[in-house]
Amino acid sequence: MSHKSIAVDGPSGAGKSTLAKLLAQKLGYLYVDTGAIYRTVGLRAYRAGVDPKDTAGVTALLDGLHIEMKYAPDGLQHMYLDGEDVTDAIREHVISGYASGVSAIPAVRAFLLDRQRELAREHDVIMDGRDIGTVVLPQADVKIFLTASPEDRARRRFEELVQRGQQTDYDTVLHDVIQRDEQDINRAAAPLRQAEDALLVDTTGNALEESLALLLEIIKERLQA
Ligand code: DC
Repeated sequence: MSHKSIAVDGPSGAGKSTLAKLLAQKLGYLYVDTGAIYRTVGLRAYRAGVDPKDTAGVTALLDGLHIEMKYAPDGLQHMYLDGEDVTDAIREHVISGYASGVSAIPAVRAFLLDRQRELAREHDVIMDGRDIGTVVLPQADVKIFLTASPEDRARRRFEELVQRGQQTDYDTVLHDVIQRDEQDINRAAAPLRQAEDALLVDTTGNALEESLALLLEIIKERLQA
């Protein structure tokens, strides 16, 4: 029996991971946060002192790179780098830039592509990322492109970082959000863009529950179609 797949793409801070996680719980699907996988490669580069834009340096790290993904009983996705649980470490602010940098390297994307597809072959998945509907799962049953204004996204990201006890200020986060969008949209390899058959959902100003209800409705409708 073939499995169902839902692709949720969009820029950082649009609420993809929070919403996709909740949707996965409601639908009984596996939630796959693909950004976390890129972040783990980014963390590896950071720890090795390799510039994330150094294509040759990062590509060399892929040889022997040992990344694992495991699910806690509550469904939380844990990332392991060489056996170490790096689930929290990959959320450090500095790693966001590293993840964005390494994700522009075609060899990194190729390295991760099969793993992502394999998960969708083996499970009903809701996968969030930047290129899920366009590259990873072009045949996804439902495709959603989730976005919000840069200010709204920066505010959410800022609140998340403060909650994690990280020192930062809103203007820096807004600046980083805009810069990261630019990098993700303008890169040559699998840039961030809306798939033609994806539904655009703008969450600007929405409460979480509103976005969740809207998405659930859209997904149920599309899965039945
Ligand atoms: O979703 P996130 O912020 O955790 O993603 C971190 C970085 O990884 C982001 O800058 C873009 C990149 N990424 C990607 O290129 N493709 C994906 N499918 C997911 C993330």
